[in-house]
Amino acid sequence: MDFQWYPGHMTKAKRMMQENIKLIDIMVELVDARVPYSSKNPDIDELARNKSRLIILNKEDMADPEITKGWEQYYKEQGFFVAKVNSQRGAGMKEVRKLIEEACKEKRERDRKRGILNRPIRAMVAGIPNVGKSTFINSFAGKACAKTGNKPGLTKGKKWNKNNKNVELLDTPGILWPKFDDQTVGLRLAWIGSIREEILNVSELSEEFAAFLQENYPGILHARYGVEEAGTPPEVMERIARARGCLAKGNQTDVEKAGSLLLEDYRSLRLGRISLESPDSRKDF
Ligand code: G4P
Repeated sequence: MDFQWYPGHMTKAKRMMQENIKLIDIMVELVDARVPYSSKNPDIDELARNKSRLIILNKEDMADPEITKGWEQYYKEQGFFVAKVNSQRGAGMKEVRKLIEEACKEKRERDRKRGILNRPIRAMVAGIPNVGKSTFINSFAGKACAKTGNKPGLTKGKKWNKNNKNVELLDTPGILWPKFDDQTVGLRLAWIGSIREEILNVSELSEEFAAFLQENYPGILHARYGVEEAGTPPEVMERIARARGCLAKGNQTDVEKAGSLLLEDYRSLRLGRISLESPDSRKDF
């Protein structure tokens, strides 16, 4: 399968982030907790070189809790502050606030020495499309107190979400396209629905996903569809198609329809909490 990206947009997005980076104290980087490696754009490391760093494992409600623990540890060991969050529910925001304070302790100290009191910490939220940036910003800023305002001179006209007096979020999140040099990363991003379906081969994608489940989450396909799991992935997909009445003319199975159904069930949590990569299997599973 060939995954295509848009280098033109990427360059523009990066340039915008570069301009804004001077204004912030901390980079808040969202990744999808189901794929914390594949959904992390390595360009952010370069862009935010001298900034405090917080990684948010977002959509943690969709990921396997045990594997998420491993990822928290993994990124902490690499020197990041790490929080796991469900932005849709607003769970984990208190911890995020606490970690931002902790990560910017030195800035607070510098301000204090210069006699500057209560200057808010400024943060940029960044991540690949669909990772939950807008949902996170809304949840963190809170509807009631989410105000934006211009501060010419200080912020060069940028808008900030002044959710509380301690932390201001830049209004426009930094959008970076995912990067992948191998097919596995592309595959995982396609499974979570971050790649436009029309450029993908759904039958192939779902067969690979069925193979992943057979190996890593045995019993799930049987529990959901009542099908026998042994056999090749195409055989399993064929059984799912029959079990769910995905049929074409002449009693033929419509495996593409069954594939869409399987992926949609995964993305809607109907298969349960499933992580697609663990810290020790970042590249292969
Ligand atoms: P983006 O700005 O990074 O592009 O992402 P956005 O906030 O638009 O979120 C993308 C999708 O992910 C949205 O679903 C959003 O509700 C969902 N989402 C964000 N954070 C979480 C989370 O922590 N847990 C879960 N389960 N989902 C999350 P959507 O289907 O596009 O829209 P809708 O269903 O909310 O209407």
